[in-house]
Amino acid sequence: MLSLKINGLVIKNIITWQKTNPMPNVTRRVLTHSTEFIVWAVKGKGWIFNYEILKELNPEKSKDGLTKQMRDVWTFPVVQGKERIHDENGKAIHPTQKPEKMLEWIISGFSNKNDLVLDPFCGSGTTCKIAKNLNRNFIGIEKENKYIKVINDRLSKPIEQNLFDTINYL
Ligand SMILES: C[S@@+](CC[C@H](N)C(=O)[O-])C[C@H]1O[C@@H](n2cnc3c(N)ncnc32)[C@H](O)[C@@H]1O
Repeated sequence: MLSLKINGLVIKNIITWQKTNPMPNVTRRVLTHSTEFIVWAVKGKGWIFNYEILKELNPEKSKDGLTKQMRDVWTFPVVQGKERIHDENGKAIHPTQKPEKMLEWIISGFSNKNDLVLDPFCGSGTTCKIAKNLNRNFIGIEKENKYIKVINDRLSKPIEQNLFDTINYL
């Protein structure tokens, strides 16, 4: 937080990712950790906030079925099932692969088409994949060689149109 301030960034929201299926706590001596935070910080006055898109993406609707403002608590399961990438032995390739839907919300809510998205801790490449799908330019950095092939494989696949079901007007 201090380094953001030193570099002239101002925090606009801290979004809480609430996990519906967190890993159980093995010690049984503390509460199960079930949240992570997304810090949204900006520089200057011209920040991008796609209010209407985030309203459309918000699964919560008003009593009349109308869209509602997006809140700062987002609920998604930890990646599992078909979305989770496994190696040939059936082991999850990356321990903290992020939900694609969550990256869709972040990238479509806080950037525009053709913007540049940087992920300096790329992991399995979720950010880059979704940035590509949403027509953003992207740079991903990852220090572990073992993930580079995974990232390239994900990026070489054709765009999965089903990801656009809720946001096909973008
Ligand atoms: C939390 S994971 C990212 C997970 C990713 N969002 C995904 O969906 O798969 C962080 C990644 O950053 C990488 N990493 C850590 N320090 C790094 C550094 N100094 N430079 C580049 N990559 C780094 C780790 O190897 C790890 O794969």
